Parts: sequence; C-alpha cells; structure tokens
Amino acid sequence: MKLKIKTISEQDTMSVAEKLAKSLGYPVVISLVGDLGAGKTTFTKGFAKGLNIKDNITSPTFTIMNEYKSGVKPLYHFDMYRLASLEEALELGFGEYFDLTKLSGASIVEWAENTKGILPERHLEITINKINDNEREIDVEPKGLV
Ligand SMILES: Nc1ncnc2c1ncn2[C@@H]1O[C@H](COP(=O)(O)OP(=O)(O)O)[C@@H](O)[C@H]1O
Ligand SMILES: [Mg+2]
Repeated sequence: MKLKIKTISEQDTMSVAEKLAKSLGYPVVISLVGDLGAGKTTFTKGFAKGLNIKDNITSPTFTIMNEYKSGVKPLYHFDMYRLASLEEALELGFGEYFDLTKLSGASIVEWAENTKGILPERHLEITINKINDNEREIDVEPKGLV
C-alpha cells in the first residue's frame, strides 16, 4: 500500500508529519527519501512536534545523528549524507538504532541510501517529491510486510 498526501506549504508538511507521529505504532524506523530541499528535515520537525518534543530540530548534517529525549518517545534523527558506507555507520555504533528489538522510539533517516543495508526489513519509506516551490507529494509506504 502507498498513501499519497499532497501538501501546499512547509507548515502543511509539518502538520502531516505531526499527525503521522501521533498515529504510528512504536518502535518505528523511517527512511526519508527525496532530493536536497525536498522537505526531509521539515518533515522531521513536524514529526518531533507530534511527539511533544519542544527542542529546536536542526539538520544533523555534521553530527550525523541528533537525539531528542524530551518527548513521549525518543527520536533519533540521522543524516547519512556524509557517510560512505554501512561499515562506517556501524563503526559509529548506529546499529542499535535500526534493531527493532532494541529501539524504543523512532529512528528517522535522511540519505539512508548512503548506508545501504542499515534499515531493518520492516520500516516506513516516506518519499517527498517536489512538485514546485511550495507543493510536495508525500508518499508513505510500509516496507517488509508479509
Ligand atoms: N510543501 C512543502 N513542504 C516542505 N518544505 C517546503 C514546502 N514548500 C516549500 N518548502 C521549503 O523547502 C525547503 C525544505 O528544506 P529541508 O526540509 O531542509 O529539505 P531537505 O531536508 O529534504 O534537504 C524549506 O526551505 C521549506 O521552507
Ligand atoms: Mg535535510
């Protein structure tokens, strides 16, 4: 199944993400797919709001992972853009955040394609397609269902 949602502003995308965060079961691993500027970090901001996280969500481009524990569930926000391989991610100790038997909140990953193989089979793939400056199509697809 694929759920398609069209948004018409940054606020609109945050609102979709906020509602999704409140509706999902946990733990959950989410892969955010989309070009630079598509809205992956914006989506994560809305998602954090849905978990009642009050912190300012910033892109973890340089830190690779930002951790937020002040909400109703922990949120681990990854940006794998600067990583070259799965091995590099595992050396940094990120494996546990993608193990559904150990994770207790949400791991959200931008550029998971750079660390191919790190995602558990069961995850949510969210693709953000840029239609024009203000419009996006958001596709939500559960992966790994039997
Ligand atoms: N409908 C929309 N949804 C999300 N972002 C939007 C939308 N319309 C315009 N934008 C803008 O697109 C940019 C998305 O940036 P960002 O979330 O950092 O993207 P990414 O993390 O995918 O590189 C922001 O400047 C945001 O204001
Ligand atoms: Mg980003």
